[in-house]
Amino acid sequence: MHSKYRKILVTCALPYANGPIHIGHMLEHIQADIWVRYQRMRNHEVWFISSDDAHGTAIMLKSEKLGIKPVQLIKKIREEHIIDFSKFNISHDNYHSTHCRENFFLLRKIFSSLVKNKLIDEKKISQFYDNVKKIFLPDRFIKGICPFCYAKNQNGDNCEVCGSIYEPTDLIDPLSVISNTTPILKNTTHLYFNLPVFTKMLKIWIKSGVLEKSVIKKTEEWLKSGLKSWGISRDGPYFGFKIPKFFNKYFYVWLDAPIGYISAFKNLCNKNKKINFSEFWKKDSECELYHFIGKDIIYFHTLFWPAILEAASFRKPNGIFVHGHLTINGLKLSKSRGILITASDWIKNFDSDSLRYYYASKLNNNIHDIEINLQDFIQKINTDIVNKLVNLASRSSSFIHKFFDSYLSSSLDNLDLYNHFVDISTKISNFFENREFSAIIRECVKLLDLANQYINKQQPWKIKKENFNKLHMICTMGINLFRLVMIFLKPIIPDLARKTEFFLLINLTWESIKKPLLSHKIKKFSKLYNRINTDIIEKLSI
Ligand code: MSP
Ligand code: ZN
Repeated sequence: MHSKYRKILVTCALPYANGPIHIGHMLEHIQADIWVRYQRMRNHEVWFISSDDAHGTAIMLKSEKLGIKPVQLIKKIREEHIIDFSKFNISHDNYHSTHCRENFFLLRKIFSSLVKNKLIDEKKISQFYDNVKKIFLPDRFIKGICPFCYAKNQNGDNCEVCGSIYEPTDLIDPLSVISNTTPILKNTTHLYFNLPVFTKMLKIWIKSGVLEKSVIKKTEEWLKSGLKSWGISRDGPYFGFKIPKFFNKYFYVWLDAPIGYISAFKNLCNKNKKINFSEFWKKDSECELYHFIGKDIIYFHTLFWPAILEAASFRKPNGIFVHGHLTINGLKLSKSRGILITASDWIKNFDSDSLRYYYASKLNNNIHDIEINLQDFIQKINTDIVNKLVNLASRSSSFIHKFFDSYLSSSLDNLDLYNHFVDISTKISNFFENREFSAIIRECVKLLDLANQYINKQQPWKIKKENFNKLHMICTMGINLFRLVMIFLKPIIPDLARKTEFFLLINLTWESIKKPLLSHKIKKFSKLYNRINTDIIEKLSI
């Protein structure tokens, strides 16, 4: 499968520029980064991009509250986001912002082709308006009593208690979250994108191998209840791009946000002239495009986005990779309800490989939520990485240094065992390709157990001087098995991989799997990884 050279563009959903990166966002970027690093290891051309989503009412209000201009806010936040991602070794090739020239021009271009294709209609509607703040209210800024189950304090568009979806005007006793006053209804005119025209195309497209089963099912439910025209404009005051020839109206943030995928790539092409922009985005592009997203934004990516791309004659994605949400000790990760752990707080207490490894051990190609439990986290890292993985290297190398001048032997003690590891590499590549990361961790732990059992059985510490040739081959075996597992884990734990490369004085490459490392001088073993101290749980009180 896929042995040809591939050109791949990978994106992560664009985090909003109104708050810090938390460990829920990081789940997505780590998942995508592991996949990207694996594809790079297989020598494919991969471009990995993301961007801040810089527009919308929330960002406008936040900057007002801070007494700064929105552009100042989004500049500061973007700088913080970039630092957070680099601390977790997320290897974006470009991290842009939707508030940029590229996005401005692309949005206009796409909009005018929608207009030209008669896909935009104007409609008069009446909408909730905050008469104190003088602002039309997005659904998220209206709270009230659910018209179905009468639960209090529910959002403007859906009830978190009974799961009903409704219009803000259906709410009982609606209240503006911004001023805590009762909103009034006010007439306004808006632009709508004719989404229903694309129903047939979408029905076929979602089943063309681009989505996992559970995501198809969700999307089909929306298709079954019938698609509606999609409002793409918002009234001023708003922080976003203005709509040409339409007084005081702005493009809705969710129109320019996915276009941000294209503009972040365009910006990368401007910086790296070797990449051909249209080769990736033209209608019949043979390059591959994948979006990593969370399950809360499926609708935008499986319906609106492909329809917009189709309408504007761009290529559509080859896959939308959807993950579930992160929960901590059973609680949702959220500012308002539950706990929020920012990426920068987390990294003060732990290294980045540990979270990457732990997430990988839980990640799969489905949309199940991912539960993080601190005790389990610490135990998994100490058992797998310290006791099984690093210990294999340390116990094997000590004799190599002591008796063999740090040279590996010229042959292996057990070629069958080595070849078993080589065979498993095919299985592991398929798991990487299909994003079944938890299966990779399972396989690697199984291999590590085999390797450690092998060493235990050989009892190298008991071997007498006259059999030192055997001792040499056993320890060389141990180092080689460690090397193979580290190749498999390199996309997941890049820091430890780098240290291993320095220790073994080699590059961990996929091509080198088949060939044992022999008659080769390695460096003195120095501590590769620190055990996590369990006292940290009390300190963190999570
Ligand atoms: N700005 C939009 C995305 C626009 S894409 C064209 C947005 N931003 S977000 O900051 O709210 O979320 C960014 C990504 O992080 C989304 O894919 C979202 O699903 C993911 N996550 C946010 N909280 C999360 C968890 N608690 N757990 C896992 N992923 C989470 O949506
Ligand atoms: Zn309800």
